[in-house]
Amino acid sequence: MANLQLDEPVPDVADDGVWLTCIECGETFAPFEEIRYTCDECDGLLEVRYADLPTFEDFDSNAIADGVWRYSAALPFDDGVSLPEGGTPLHEVPRLEEDLGVDRLRVKHEGMNPTGSFKDRGMTVGVRVAEKVGVDRLACASTGNTSAALSAYGARAGLETLVLLPAGKVAAGKIAQASLHGARILEVDGNFDRCLDIVQNLADRGEAYLLNSLNPFRLEGQKTIGLEILEEFRADEGTYPDRIVLPVGNAGNTAALYKAFRELVESGALDESDVPKLTGVQAAGSAPMVEAVEEGWDDIQRWEDVETIATAIRIGNPVNAPKALPGIRETGGTAVAVSDEQITAAQRDLAGEGVGVEPASAASVAGLRKLRERGVVDADEQVVCLTTGHLLKDPDAAAEAGSDPEPVPDDTDAVLDLLAE
Ligand code: F0G
Repeated sequence: MANLQLDEPVPDVADDGVWLTCIECGETFAPFEEIRYTCDECDGLLEVRYADLPTFEDFDSNAIADGVWRYSAALPFDDGVSLPEGGTPLHEVPRLEEDLGVDRLRVKHEGMNPTGSFKDRGMTVGVRVAEKVGVDRLACASTGNTSAALSAYGARAGLETLVLLPAGKVAAGKIAQASLHGARILEVDGNFDRCLDIVQNLADRGEAYLLNSLNPFRLEGQKTIGLEILEEFRADEGTYPDRIVLPVGNAGNTAALYKAFRELVESGALDESDVPKLTGVQAAGSAPMVEAVEEGWDDIQRWEDVETIATAIRIGNPVNAPKALPGIRETGGTAVAVSDEQITAAQRDLAGEGVGVEPASAASVAGLRKLRERGVVDADEQVVCLTTGHLLKDPDAAAEAGSDPEPVPDDTDAVLDLLAE
């Protein structure tokens, strides 16, 4: 089983207090000397480690920087290729809170990032690393949002960007973004997991720098979602949330939030008992993480056939499972699968509070409802649901879930007649 303890001594390979550790065999590597995404010895996942771990005071002393870079004490650099990202709203949703029957419900809307999803937080750090190690071409496989973010950050950095997408399974807004930001877009006749297999092969052959969440530096940026939630929730509510419910695809966010919390616990800034329960939600048609949690496995079994309206999380081989499964287990969280109908209903619920999200994002709220109904989540809990992408990412799904426009003649009386019906 993965070793996620953060108490190892600083190895000789550390560069300015930063290094990479394999979570399976413990081998350590210099962070920027050579490009690697997994362990040379055993192919295990790598994690970025630090000699100094942050406390909340470290973030306060950096109040000049906004968003992700406010948290530079938790990151390998002080700045990066920025648009800027982070600093997203933590909405109150009083009607939904009452409807779901929890003590407190807040919605952290990551769709409000510059390219409309949380991926920007990972890219501001990841593209900074790409500059540091010196590469010509950036690449990712994507269900859409990663490609949109990488295309924008690659353009900003003046680097060539290549994206591989599963043909016919990416929402329109996301392809439009990658296209206009100037990425080379390859549509693969296969699902996301096959796209990732191919991009990994290209990266292994030195053809491109891989910026999927297998790249440990991406997750460093995504930690800031967890840091913002803790700080904002405490400022508003005087306490930390009991639970964070989030959609799961590759399980990068689940891994990243767990790492943010582990680092604060290790530095003494956060009591272990205050760590929110990480609760993952998948679509029933692509739920290998839920299966692994229910079966008590240490890793997932890849699903070859996946299908869901929430195309962003249409993923059968969540590569970060070895980091994320311990996170769910150790925090006392769980994982749950929801149907496409439940996802669409939750998308409408959020829209009814003025919060516009794409289907994958609504999975978090659908999952919370299901866990309340099952009595897994208590009525006295304070909960944050993460919504990961903006409504306009998938205009077709939004139009399908919403009401149809009604044609009327070009005439005021006819409009009044119709309204009176
Ligand atoms: N929500 C949205 C809107 C996403 O785009 C993704 C992942 C997830 C949730 C899942 O997050 O992987 O951290 O568990 N999208 C990737 C992409 C796979 O290519 O855009 P995770």
